[in-house]
Amino acid sequence: MFLSREEEDILAGERGPGQQRAMELLVALGRIYDAKHLVPITSAHLSGVSYKTIGEGGIDFLIEMSMDSKVKVPTTLNPMGMDAERWKEMRIPESFANRQLVIMERYAALGVSTTCSCTPYLTENVPRQGDTIAWAESSALSYANSVLGARTNREGGPGALAAAILGRTPYYGLHLDENRAPTVVVEVDGVEGIFDHSLLGHAVGQSTGGSVPYFRGIAPDKDELKIMAAAMAAAGSVALFHVEGSTPESDGQDLEGLDIVHIGRKDLDEVRSRIGVEEEPDLIALGCPHLSVREMRELALITKGRKRSPNVEVWFCTSRSTASQCPEEVAALNRFGNVVCDTCMIVAPIEGTHRVTATNSCKACSYLPGLCSQKVVCRSAPQLLEMIS
Ligand code: F3S
Repeated sequence: MFLSREEEDILAGERGPGQQRAMELLVALGRIYDAKHLVPITSAHLSGVSYKTIGEGGIDFLIEMSMDSKVKVPTTLNPMGMDAERWKEMRIPESFANRQLVIMERYAALGVSTTCSCTPYLTENVPRQGDTIAWAESSALSYANSVLGARTNREGGPGALAAAILGRTPYYGLHLDENRAPTVVVEVDGVEGIFDHSLLGHAVGQSTGGSVPYFRGIAPDKDELKIMAAAMAAAGSVALFHVEGSTPESDGQDLEGLDIVHIGRKDLDEVRSRIGVEEEPDLIALGCPHLSVREMRELALITKGRKRSPNVEVWFCTSRSTASQCPEEVAALNRFGNVVCDTCMIVAPIEGTHRVTATNSCKACSYLPGLCSQKVVCRSAPQLLEMIS
């Protein structure tokens, strides 16, 4: 991979060990993927924030990287392992909270914005069409590629941090026009509402994993695109998709000769029954990806005047910046359950407190059993809230 004189100097350690380590990471990635050179980025989004997922090894890495480096581009963070203000109510052990705070200090020292969310594109980190970015978090990067028309590979946490520190990333994969063309057509029938789009994402991720799907027969709104992108990324590592007549790169695509997959009601019902169990949940967790203001409004309306069963906790997961935009809804939802900011049902250590978690997110359903030792109940948000009130 070609390196400029300045990049060679960084690699030789002339700007300190943090930048050198970052450059070593990017060069290794570039070599693996046969990148010709590095390109400048306009923003980064980092995963690897919860103490539950990165542990002591992650803390050591962050200490090393933050000793003499700062990020060069606006950089946001994925959810951490707890609500920074309500962690005691979440029954997070103090030992966990203390280590989580060390992680947050290190990210702050690096100059990273410490608002923790997987939907930075709703508030403080909104790429424009054509921007070159380095984002981790599979749901967010798929949304940025597909819905916003920005360009990012499926970065891991360390690669995205290295890119943020150096303000550049290896030029390969989804940064190149030829890799952004559809590879399969998905014709959809009878899909309606947020939950259906979550099931659709799961079905397509499973059946066409690693592809660039081109959807026909749907006209999703932003919340539907958000949950669909998350489900597809979790079930099949899909990092880019197009929706006919809707997403920015869908016009003029050559679909000639592509395989066509049909998805209808029956397929969605099959997904739902396959990934969920029929048990009483002890936690209902909504907001994977983090809830938007509009979703908070809809949920506040659904829960208005209702009382939940005391045996079930309810979490409405969102970002602190989204919550600050809808204080009345936050107050209303807190009367019914708990608005939980900065974290989510997957990266919080819920395996210590819950056994059966219910959600409308197929991404969460994919991860809850393995990462949180949970049985999962998979239903729409209105169905779940109805069940317990
Ligand atoms: Fe976000 Fe956590 Fe889901 S990071 S996409 S709410 S698993």
